[in-house]
Amino acid sequence: MNHLISLNDLSCDEINELIDLAIKLKKDNKEGKTHHYLKGQSLGMIFSKSSTRTRVSFEVGMYQLGGQALFLSSNDIQLGRGEPISDTAQVLSRFLDGIMIRTFKHSDVVELAEKGSIPIINGLTDDEHPCQVLADLQTIYEHKGTLKGLKLAYIGDGNNMAHSLLHGCSKVGMDVAVASPDGYTCGEKFVNEAKAAAEISGSKVIMTSDPIEAIKDADVVYTDTWASMGQEAEKEIRAKIFAPYQVNKELFAHAKKDAMFLHCLPAYRGYEVTEDVIDGPNSYIFDEAENRLHAQKAVLVKLMAK
Ligand code: CP
Ligand code: NVA
Repeated sequence: MNHLISLNDLSCDEINELIDLAIKLKKDNKEGKTHHYLKGQSLGMIFSKSSTRTRVSFEVGMYQLGGQALFLSSNDIQLGRGEPISDTAQVLSRFLDGIMIRTFKHSDVVELAEKGSIPIINGLTDDEHPCQVLADLQTIYEHKGTLKGLKLAYIGDGNNMAHSLLHGCSKVGMDVAVASPDGYTCGEKFVNEAKAAAEISGSKVIMTSDPIEAIKDADVVYTDTWASMGQEAEKEIRAKIFAPYQVNKELFAHAKKDAMFLHCLPAYRGYEVTEDVIDGPNSYIFDEAENRLHAQKAVLVKLMAK
């Protein structure tokens, strides 16, 4: 593992190893044990989009591992004024030990990794959000004691979250069902990648426009905003199209009784999810958010520890 760009690049064993390491780092952290595995190392964090969780968890994670993190808003560095990714990658590789990048085009992250000589971590693109799904899988594992054989239902936009959940679940042997309205379903490439992984892990990939079919007997129910960063202008039209896909008490009742509700956050109550679900007893959203820190520390150690 040289980079974390897509969960599709990881094997089932690699994902499970990261989860195990994340759980160990979490336990040690709670017991006050420090591990300065990245002493003296620097992580650059390039942001072309907003962030609360990703920014804070990477920054705190680097500090806890004995290193430092530099926040690089793309508006403030020359990348935002048109300096090529290739030059940026080669220059930053001379200063830094790793880069986390949150941006629009997935191909920019791939190019950064190709042209640079240090580990690159995808902190969200329009296509994928692998760090989030590692934290999600950790959270499911902690509460269910297993991943293999469970069913996750994703209800809503076929976006970056849906793509990374397709990858992550199919790799670890979870059934994954995605329900989206016509025209807003996942990219074919991601569905095909998930189907190929599911064949190896022995799980199922179900793509449907029927939210009840997707959520039926699910162990985990997941949703995300209907209008991702960059789609703000479509918010109102999307709210109408996605209305039948709202995760409310009625829809949630079709999942298993002990189903977990997850959401990458930020959440928009009254749109993709209702308060009674996201703030109800089956919701694990804050454990999930916390695990961003632990899962990403595992990624940082795996990629950067000498
Ligand atoms: N879930 C997530 O990535 O949150 P932020 O946008 O706050 O980083
Ligand atoms: N799909 C959302 C995820 C935010 C963490 C977005 O891209 O804005």
